[in-house]
Amino acid sequence: MNENQLREQIAELGKSLYDRGLAHGSAGNISVKLAEGYLLTPTNSCLGRLDPAKISRLDGNGKRVSGDAPSKEAFLHLGMYGERPTSAAVVHLHSLHAVAVSCLDGLNPDDVFPPITAYAVMQVGRLALAPYYAPGDTALAEAVRKLAGKHHAILLANHGPVVAGASLSAAVYAIEELEQTARLMLLLQNQSTRLLTAAQIADLNRRFPT
Ligand code: 13P
Repeated sequence: MNENQLREQIAELGKSLYDRGLAHGSAGNISVKLAEGYLLTPTNSCLGRLDPAKISRLDGNGKRVSGDAPSKEAFLHLGMYGERPTSAAVVHLHSLHAVAVSCLDGLNPDDVFPPITAYAVMQVGRLALAPYYAPGDTALAEAVRKLAGKHHAILLANHGPVVAGASLSAAVYAIEELEQTARLMLLLQNQSTRLLTAAQIADLNRRFPT
């Protein structure tokens, strides 16, 4: 896809996430890696009403080249790309159920979700928990960078999920699966639940390597 097609795709998928309640207000941001630099949604923009022409363009160091002022989470996106050379897109949301899980006490920071379903294992994998820092704080970006080499999906404590993918549609599919899994986890809390076994998880990882 060329840059203009990627701009259109960011706006189209942003609207799709917004229309289905996965994004609200001005929360969330989306980026895509270009041959040189990145596209990133502007700060304080609504993912449901993005103007493709105004999406920020950054150079390889994260400096704005054109478009509106970029998301305050630019460093968080750059941290993911820095540790994941095969990633082509990063999506960050404040989706309801994932945020609810991010506020729970006693989570396993290396593997937040129990292995509830095959798609959670295949598309989210081991979800890491990053400690709380204010949105846009470079300490948040640094905490994410430290986890990003081993995890393509990270949950920011008391904030929301961030996911990297090999394409924008892959990142969006994975963050939708993450939101769905968070909802299932909350629905199943305090219920006797049959989880996938270690052998079943190993089989999925063999069949569907990430
Ligand atoms: P921006 O409006 O700067 O993209 O920030 C939104 C957000 O989701 C902060 O975490």
